Amino acid sequence: MSVNMLNTNGFDKKPPESYLDFFFYNTRAVVMNRKIAMDCDSYTPTPESEWEFKIRSAIGDPATCRFVKEALIYGYKNLKIKKPEDVVENIFLKLAASNTKEIKDVLEEIRNTQFLGVEGGSIRETWSGYYRDTEAPFIAGLISDQVVGNKILEVGTGRGWVSYHLSNLLNKSVNITQTDLFDYREPLVKEYNNFAFVQVNALDPLPFQEGFFDTAIIVYVLHHLDSEKVFKGFLCKLDKVVKHKIIILDDTYVASNHVSHFCYDQSPLIEQFQKLNRWQKICALTFSCSFSNRVDGGGKDVPPPNVFMEFDVLRSILESIFNKALIKSEYLGIPKTKVYLNSEGLFVVEK
Ligand SMILES: C[S@@+](CC[C@H](N)C(=O)[O-])C[C@H]1O[C@@H](n2cnc3c(N)ncnc32)[C@H](O)[C@@H]1O
Repeated sequence: MSVNMLNTNGFDKKPPESYLDFFFYNTRAVVMNRKIAMDCDSYTPTPESEWEFKIRSAIGDPATCRFVKEALIYGYKNLKIKKPEDVVENIFLKLAASNTKEIKDVLEEIRNTQFLGVEGGSIRETWSGYYRDTEAPFIAGLISDQVVGNKILEVGTGRGWVSYHLSNLLNKSVNITQTDLFDYREPLVKEYNNFAFVQVNALDPLPFQEGFFDTAIIVYVLHHLDSEKVFKGFLCKLDKVVKHKIIILDDTYVASNHVSHFCYDQSPLIEQFQKLNRWQKICALTFSCSFSNRVDGGGKDVPPPNVFMEFDVLRSILESIFNKALIKSEYLGIPKTKVYLNSEGLFVVEK
């Protein structure tokens, strides 16, 4: 694992003055100890400890922490939360206590806290409505033209809003099989009788007949798979069960010198994100993804994020499995309307 960031940031020499300094100081102590542990031969990181390590790195490294904090404030402004700065400050106070607790417990605690300033309920309830009305329609609009046939698979449907809007855009002329590790779809989604839900497990996520589906949609799911190996196995199986199109939207990043012509309205924080190094970007993506799932989405049953890939790396993995000429890809950056600011790539594979 790359630990560039740790080498460049180290400990502060001066004693901590404010609680935030104290927090950085302590968090960095934990991160540095982890680095020592990770350098030693006998240490085998489990996905859980890697996950925790990345979150501690995100909040312990000043540049990454500045980005994730400002990103959270920006996102909560999109949610029209009153005094988003205060809410985020309170959240970071809770995270500051994480040196004595496990990160997963702190995120669960934040999930169960009703923060002041949120009108009409918790941040989770507010975001659920916002995702339904703003983010999911944006995603459905991005991909609807690409859908072919009427047997559709949506892998890892979550609350189910992407399928819901896609079905509406296509006048309910499609049958959508939605999968997930557990069913936390919203009541409105469950009412659609052109949807069927299949609960899957991580060892057998695609229990379907060869060529059964016309199109598959996979939105923000790939980075939850256990490893790059599982990832490739999953794509090979997908190749078998899907006849025509595979549409993937996932959190990816590009190097800072990547030349891209953004077609989408970008969050102003994209430039700050671009300045982070590779490891900092991975930690920032991990932080943000963990917030969207553990605090606001399905909660503790959602597997932690594991594999965030560079846009070109994901593209080359797809090229190793599918016909290169039939893969379209586009780096989207961070769309302006997002609440959890992860940069994204869209990949469409024609078969
Ligand atoms: C970030 S959420 C995205 C939810 C939904 N696709 C959306 O965009 O609103 C990721 C989802 O993938 C699910 N997931 C993770 N690994 C999976 C697997 N192997 N098979 C199916 N779903 C999986 C998680 O439980 C979670 O609901």
